[in-house]
Amino acid sequence: MFNLILFGPPGSGKGTQSEKLMARYGLKHLSTGDLLRHEIANQTILGLEAKSLMDQGQLVPDEVVIGMISTALDNNPLANGFLFDGFPRTKAQSVALDKLLEDRNEAINVVLALDVTEQELVKRLLNRGLTSNRSDDVNEDVIRARIAEYHKKTSAVAEHYQQFGKVVLVPGEGTVEEIFESLSGEIDRRKAA
Ligand code: AP5
Ligand code: MG
Repeated sequence: MFNLILFGPPGSGKGTQSEKLMARYGLKHLSTGDLLRHEIANQTILGLEAKSLMDQGQLVPDEVVIGMISTALDNNPLANGFLFDGFPRTKAQSVALDKLLEDRNEAINVVLALDVTEQELVKRLLNRGLTSNRSDDVNEDVIRARIAEYHKKTSAVAEHYQQFGKVVLVPGEGTVEEIFESLSGEIDRRKAA
C-alpha cells in the first residue's frame, strides 16, 4: 500500500492533481470536500449542517470528517493505497488518521505540500467561481476566510508530519503537467526506496 496526503491551501490544485495521480498510481481518492458536497447535494442532515459552515469558509467539526474517512477506509478494503485530499485539516484529524491507519497496519508514506502564493490562490478561486457551482468560490471574503482557516488550523498538519520527516514541499505554480511530473517524481522515489 502507498498512502499519500496531498496537502495545500484552498486553490492550490489538490483536486486537479488528485485526478491525475489516482489514474497513474491506482490510488483510491478520498476528498472530504467532495464527500461533504455529495451530502449537501443529497440534502442529508449532515449535509445541511455542513453547508452553513462551508458557505462561510469555516471548517466542519473534526468528528464529522473523521467519521467519513473511517467509513471510507472500511468500504475500500482492497485499495492499493489512499490519496487523501483536503484531509487531515487539523492536528486532531492528523492524529485520528494516523490511528485509523495504524489499526489497519498502515501509515502515511508521504505528505506532498503544494506551494502557491496567496495572490495566485485568490485569482484561481475567483476565476473558478465564475463557472463552478461552488458557493464558497463566489466572493472574495469567503475565499480569504478559507485561506485564514488554513493558516490558523491546517498548517498544524504539516508541522505534525514534519516531526516524522514526511513532508515534501512541491512548487504548485506552473502548468498542471509540470506540477504533476514533480509530484510523480517524489512518489516514484519513495516507491522505489
Ligand atoms: P475542499 O473541497 O477541500 O476545498 P479547498 O481545500 O478549500 O480547496 P479547493 O478544492 O477549492 O482547491 P484545490 O486545492 O482542490 O484546487 P483545485 O484543483 O480545485 O473544502 C471545502 C470546504 O469543505 C472547506 O472550506 C470546509 O468547510 C469543508 N471541509 C473539507 N474538508 C474538511 C476537513 N477535513 N475538515 C473540516 N472541514 C472540511 O484548483 C483550484 C482552481 O485552480 C481550479 O479552477 C483549477 O482548474 C485551477 N488550477 C489548478 N491547477 C492550476 C495550475 N497549475 N495553474 C492554474 N490554475 C490551476
Ligand atoms: Mg479540492
